[in-house]
Amino acid sequence: MLRTERLVLRPHRLSDSDATDWFALQSEPAVREFLPWPERDAASSRRHLRDRTRHTRLWQADDFLALAVELDGHLIGDVSLHLRAVPATTRTVEMGWVVHPALGGRGYATEAAAALLEFAITAVGAQRVTAVTDARNTRSVALAERLGLVAQSTRVPGDPAVAPGETLLAVSGGRAAGGNATTAPGPGDARV
Ligand SMILES: CC(C)(COP(=O)(O)OP(=O)(O)OC[C@H]1O[C@@H](n2cnc3c(N)ncnc32)[C@H](O)[C@@H]1OP(=O)(O)O)[C@@H](O)C(=O)NCCC(=O)NCCS
Repeated sequence: MLRTERLVLRPHRLSDSDATDWFALQSEPAVREFLPWPERDAASSRRHLRDRTRHTRLWQADDFLALAVELDGHLIGDVSLHLRAVPATTRTVEMGWVVHPALGGRGYATEAAAALLEFAITAVGAQRVTAVTDARNTRSVALAERLGLVAQSTRVPGDPAVAPGETLLAVSGGRAAGGNATTAPGPGDARV
């Protein structure tokens, strides 16, 4: 579990309260606009949340860590890390984020993502942190830039694939160097 000034980031759980909040979140057209999420009914949304409860660790390439963003006891969003490259010197993670639009514009997404970025660097040992977003998703691009990620014109090994119309943003080296490649823990040692 990670705590920020206003939020708790913790593994997802299949409670009725979270299932209700999750369904409300992904029923928002604005949320689905740039995410590969279909419109789901309540039962399908609950199954989707159940799947998310299983994404709790980063042990090997392609592992996915998804954390509930909780505000005052309610699930308001999700932040995630996708382990793209494991070797200590090139360890790369891809971040994802979503916050309920009714609570947008108050810095919650930035606060949650900043805490997860710090975790990615210090606990996971990421040397490079990336995000891929539809170039038209200006709020997502702005969030990434607030975190210090910069649009990339070329990919390096370990970077996620980028489809036409998508932007790759990344930070590596100096900013991500909170993780010392020789001493940073292996991803499997990172605990939320
Ligand atoms: C991407 C997404 C999370 C961005 O949400 P957001 O509301 O813009 O981000 P934040 O919650 O960090 O809020 C930032 C805004 O709050 C303001 N703000 C207020 N208090 C703040 C604080 N303490 N810290 C940072 N920003 C603060 C910022 O100035 C900014 O305002 P602006 O939009 O007028 O520039 C949201 O649009 C979303 O969930 N989209 C759907 C899912 C999605 O597309 N995900 C990305 C897929 S790649």
